[in-house]
Amino acid sequence: MTFNTLLTEDRGAVRVITVNRPDKLNALNHATLTDLHAAFAAAAADDSVRAIVLTGAGPKAFVAGADIAEMNGLSPVQSRDFSRHGQALMTRIERLGKPVVGMLNGFALGGGLELAMACHLRIAADTAKIGQPEINLGLIPGFGGTQRLLRLAGRAATLELCLLGAPIGAERAMQLGIVNRVVPAAELEAATFAIAEQLASAAPQALRGILDAVLIGGESPIDVGLDYETQGFAIAFSTEDMKEGTGAFLAKRKPSFTGR
Ligand code: COA
Repeated sequence: MTFNTLLTEDRGAVRVITVNRPDKLNALNHATLTDLHAAFAAAAADDSVRAIVLTGAGPKAFVAGADIAEMNGLSPVQSRDFSRHGQALMTRIERLGKPVVGMLNGFALGGGLELAMACHLRIAADTAKIGQPEINLGLIPGFGGTQRLLRLAGRAATLELCLLGAPIGAERAMQLGIVNRVVPAAELEAATFAIAEQLASAAPQALRGILDAVLIGGESPIDVGLDYETQGFAIAFSTEDMKEGTGAFLAKRKPSFTGR
């Protein structure tokens, strides 16, 4: 599959999806959102893909936001559709059922932070700048930022980032729980792929059970969430990977998970 606004590449069982508009700091226009929808749908449907890395092309940006030039010409009705298109993409990524690692190689602003927050883990270069600057445009976040930042970092940090609009550095983002790891920029790729390869060699149904229990069950009353957990736990017992994982432990050897 080829895309006008993305690059995709398979490195073993890790699919790399790169937003590729570096001259616009990888800003998310309608076409990019549409391509990302298709790229993530394809990754979800392909059993050979067991983990995904999402990043931005060029040395400066992960994604510097929704495309301001495109938004400038939208009617209210079109902007509602744009918001829904973006929100649906973030939900698709969050609920993909396969682990997605955001590799934050620079600016992750506005829609860029919203895209990063839809990923399951975020690894940031120490040079990354992170924020929800929409207020500076007379706007509010429209791709889920008010809701996902609230869940990741709490009300105080969310209100600070959204109301003041000033980007923060990667270290402060880690203190606030917005990113999982901060590494020197030169080590970002190696650190990210070490994690992605670990995920790609884990048992896929167990990963899916965790993702669904946390991301879907976690949005429900606790009894419903606990039921998601029980269902995922029980489904794992139907897999060869569970027999392999427990058997390998008992035989004191390393497990090899095949996805069956
Ligand atoms: N939408 C559309 N175009 C964008 C963009 C965005 N969100 N962010 C950057 N660009 C474009 C710039 O317009 C510029 O295009 P041009 O060369 O045709 O003029 C190009 O990307 C490079 O950006 P530039 O501003 O020159 O880079 P910089 O290093 O001076 O500044 C930023 C980097 C990130 C501080 C600055 O680009 C910026 O503030 N971007 C908008 C961030 C934002 O508000 N995001 C939320 C949107 S809802």
